[in-house]
Amino acid sequence: MKILVIGSGGREHALCWAIAASPLASKVYCAPGNAGIASVAECVALDVMDFDGICRFALGSGIDFVVIGPDNPLAEGLADRLEREGLRHFGPSRAAAELEWSKGFTKDFCEAEGIPTARYRRFSDAETAKAHAADHPLPVVIKADGLALGKGVIIATTRAEAAAAIDSMFAGAFGASGRSIVIEEFLEGEEASFFALTDGVNILPFGAAQDHKRVGDGDVGPNTGGMGAYSPAPVFTPAIEREVLTRIIEPTVRGMRARGRPFRGVLFAGLMITAEGPKLIEYNARFGDPECQVLMMRLKSDLLAILLACADGVLDTVNARFHDEAALTVVLAAAGYPEAPRKGTVIRGVEAAGALPGVQVFHAGTKLLEGQLVANGGRVLNVTARGRTVAEAQKRAYEAVRLIDWPGGFCRSDIGWRAIGRESA
Ligand code: AMP
Ligand code: GLY
Repeated sequence: MKILVIGSGGREHALCWAIAASPLASKVYCAPGNAGIASVAECVALDVMDFDGICRFALGSGIDFVVIGPDNPLAEGLADRLEREGLRHFGPSRAAAELEWSKGFTKDFCEAEGIPTARYRRFSDAETAKAHAADHPLPVVIKADGLALGKGVIIATTRAEAAAAIDSMFAGAFGASGRSIVIEEFLEGEEASFFALTDGVNILPFGAAQDHKRVGDGDVGPNTGGMGAYSPAPVFTPAIEREVLTRIIEPTVRGMRARGRPFRGVLFAGLMITAEGPKLIEYNARFGDPECQVLMMRLKSDLLAILLACADGVLDTVNARFHDEAALTVVLAAAGYPEAPRKGTVIRGVEAAGALPGVQVFHAGTKLLEGQLVANGGRVLNVTARGRTVAEAQKRAYEAVRLIDWPGGFCRSDIGWRAIGRESA
């Protein structure tokens, strides 16, 4: 089969790598891809939002299956377009992906289905929102409704901060995403992510992970797309997984089907493990980046066979088997990330790092310039390793990081600290 993967990040490198290993795949393409993806797939210079170009290429090249990586094309209806063109694909429709692109929709959905989540209210004007925030217990969480590159959430610890956040959202800080906002209670606990594939009816649990969102060691500094991740998440016990499946995932799949917008794809549940049990913080309608990289490192089963079964509505005919080992990934980012990453700096030593046993280096933002590998984004490399424990995976990943010669980049030195603390407790 010929497969086309849409995207250009570390997530898509990991997906292409796993798909290329499938005996079902005769050829893998990636649009637009990056310098690392080019080692496992043929890169096609098409933007992820160029739906006409993607369809023309897929139909013209005899693509049998399209796998959509990022959130934006899902929110804008790429899956619907592929459906109309008769192209088999993995990724939910725009209506199903609303679970990710509208926080207000998801909150109302959770309330209607009795899914545990933070108490909330929705607002469409600044004055009413500020009046509500003025006597809300602190901290108070303020969220722009739509996609905002992970930056549309403010946890305000003072009234002044809450009012300023509300004003800036309604003033357009997040464009149309901030035209409507959600104000919700602050949940205390440890965060974890859980992934489940669903074909709209059947559910295939796909593992848990934890990431590090803050840019600096000790989880300080501005939020990023994620500076590292590991799987499994020791906080996510089998008992918690059962609870998440029965109280969150199953009612979601049922409720979306009942609303005539069945969700087919991967549900990525961002969860807070609170004293009262797991609660949903948010849904994403795609794999996490960099969480996908650690899931793919642990997956033993044929990814392509699973994604095809999901697309075809026969997810009950496949299993997902994972290595017992843990996987951990360290994100190498360009100096200046997340505010102003510097592009174009030269990176050496990636091959030596990837040659270490149990290590894979996924590229997140690289390109080749006159034969040299250069940084071409904020998050640039994902150095990923397996080990018997998170601690061992961490040790291997940082051994590999040390082989990479890149003065223009940086990484956190403590990815996995929470899990390693639990392992040694
Ligand atoms: P989201 O974009 O909804 O994932 O929010 C980004 C981050 O803000 C989450 O990963 C949490 O760390 C934090 N967050 C969001 N909502 C809450 C909440 N209700 N309570 C505590 N932290 C939250
Ligand atoms: N790493 C978080 C995300 O993919 O949304």
